[in-house]
Amino acid sequence: MRVLGIETSCDETGVAVYDSEKGLLAHKLYSQIDLHADYGGVVPELASRDHVRKLIPLLRELLAEAGTSLEALDGIAYTAGPGLAGALMVGAVFGRSLAWSLGLPSVGVHHMEGHLLAPMLEPAPPGFPFIALLVSGGHTQLMRVDGIGRYALLGESIDDAAGEAFDKVAKMLKLDYPGGPAVARLAEAGDSERFDFPRPMLDRPGLDFSFSGLKTSVMNALRTTDDYPGKPADIAASFQAAAVDTLARKCERALKETGVKRLVVAGGVSANKLLRAKLGEMVARRRAEVFYPALPFCTDNGAMIAFAGCQRLLAGEHEGMGITVRPRWPMTELQAPGAA
Ligand code: KG4
Ligand code: ZN
Repeated sequence: MRVLGIETSCDETGVAVYDSEKGLLAHKLYSQIDLHADYGGVVPELASRDHVRKLIPLLRELLAEAGTSLEALDGIAYTAGPGLAGALMVGAVFGRSLAWSLGLPSVGVHHMEGHLLAPMLEPAPPGFPFIALLVSGGHTQLMRVDGIGRYALLGESIDDAAGEAFDKVAKMLKLDYPGGPAVARLAEAGDSERFDFPRPMLDRPGLDFSFSGLKTSVMNALRTTDDYPGKPADIAASFQAAAVDTLARKCERALKETGVKRLVVAGGVSANKLLRAKLGEMVARRRAEVFYPALPFCTDNGAMIAFAGCQRLLAGEHEGMGITVRPRWPMTELQAPGAA
């Protein structure tokens, strides 16, 4: 089965063709970073309009690169949520109309399921069960995954998401949007032990996260300590160390409590080098394994949507006549493919 995947939930327009026999044929991404940079964050209306502008040219390039045509497709998958309502609607209307005109089935994919399954595009994919740490701009969740669509929530952030904390700290440090990579870059020049920031929720049992206290500590350090030349880098490094330490220790706790030996990390923050290094040490110590998506598939992309959609289309799932998106959509409402 050959599936076109369309991702438009936020500020990247992503398209890809995944073939269940041949694997990923091609993917294309257009990032709106420059469009939103002046505003310090994503402006929803601008995002929607830009998806409208970019989808068709991007699709043309994609088909040429994949060496395929619309007529060779067997189905279309698009991100149906969670995300920005208007931006989601662009991908949903585009995907559904195209599917209708070609007489193909189409399916709305959960964006976080896309992230979660992205490591399965790799040559050595994880087997089930595994523990998944999903860390993006809007989500921080620990899940137990027993199969596609079989997700049990173990813990999540009670306030800011991990990526959101990176983005907010970047703003405080007057760094460019998106903040995660900018903070990580600045941190390379800093001393991570200069500021002793809190590791929230580690002193309590459970697998929930909280990042707003850490964010406040960063703000206080910026305001109340004297300025010196390397201070922003030291703050970035100390913040990154605290955030990563918290994530790694909660992952360790989840592996310990469930006895599961495989960890999957996905979503934008999974691109973070320090996080990868810390988790590498942790799983080696526990004789466990950790799996990541390839770097281009850590952040938003069409390939993960094509892959996740293909699994559901193969099981016979497809949408009815209405076009609906779900800006808010708890992942635990998902079921195994074909079960709905
Ligand atoms: O998954 P994603 O592309 O979009 C959402 O679904 O939210 O994740 C974007 C988030 C942003 O908050 C960004 O700052 C963060 O991932 N991020 C990083 C890194 N690369 C992206 N955070 C820390 N270190 C990075 N290298
Ligand atoms: Zn995402």
